[in-house]
Amino acid sequence: MNITLRQLKVFESVAKNLSYTKASHDLHLSQPAVSMQVRQLEEVVGLTLFEKLGKQISLTEAGRELYHYSRGINRSLQEMEEVAESLKGVNRGCLSIAVASTVNYFAPRLLAAFHQRYPGIALKLDVTNREQLVRFLDMNSVDLVLMGQPPEEIDVESETFMENPLVVVAPQDHPLVGEQGIKLKRLETEVFVMREPGSGTRQAMERWFAEHRVAVRHGMQMTRNEAIKQAVRAGLGLSVVSLHTIELELETGRLMILDVEGFPVVRQWYLVYRRNKRLSPPAQAFREFVMDEARRLTLPA
Ligand code: PGA
Repeated sequence: MNITLRQLKVFESVAKNLSYTKASHDLHLSQPAVSMQVRQLEEVVGLTLFEKLGKQISLTEAGRELYHYSRGINRSLQEMEEVAESLKGVNRGCLSIAVASTVNYFAPRLLAAFHQRYPGIALKLDVTNREQLVRFLDMNSVDLVLMGQPPEEIDVESETFMENPLVVVAPQDHPLVGEQGIKLKRLETEVFVMREPGSGTRQAMERWFAEHRVAVRHGMQMTRNEAIKQAVRAGLGLSVVSLHTIELELETGRLMILDVEGFPVVRQWYLVYRRNKRLSPPAQAFREFVMDEARRLTLPA
């Protein structure tokens, strides 16, 4: 078969966007040029790769199979380009990092310091929850991930770089504020504002309460730490959050940490990447930088 790299690149973009128009924008090509590349690829492999339902296109089964391989090939190509770039020196090339939404409270400080040291490296940052980070690792679509708990189902290398204390927070006027050694059982009479099921904070909290046989009542569910904090302030319930997300609220006294027995629950932050992944020099530099610099970040104690 005479498949060209260009056909694979165009196919991948259409498959990812499920739109010829978006792919043509991403690739800076005209829409007919994109359609032609896809048609040619379909002819070479002798299979239909997309089907159309109304205005929406979707991948056929053959398309899905090919997408799996084309992603790997395109990723290897990108790695090859990065390695070639790196042979020209560490301070160039690009680095794509994905971090847990909770990490994003300190990630910008790390990135700013990294950028100051290596201004020639172009940085791309994705901020999302644990579930999506595991997907990124599975697809090998980012260089490095900063997250709360490395996945067990994927073969990864992981290193801890900082503690991640989880605390119980309440609004300023909550009756438990100021009480010492609050018993865990006492929490069963309270309602908890929860993160979404894909959140690492939520998983850790649920696991911890289950291990200690505490049945907390779930109240509202929210996908953002910011929304959780507002909800707690508004009196919608207590919540368990990473200490790193409430730096400002603690400074201004808008949220209070409850002195509950067993808390803070100390988790770790991890730097994670696929095992056997050849880290580009910018990725290697970032890895070393995080291990070294994280200790120097000033975070609430
Ligand atoms: P998250 O953070 O809750 O934003 O997914 C990741 C984690 O704490 O594991």
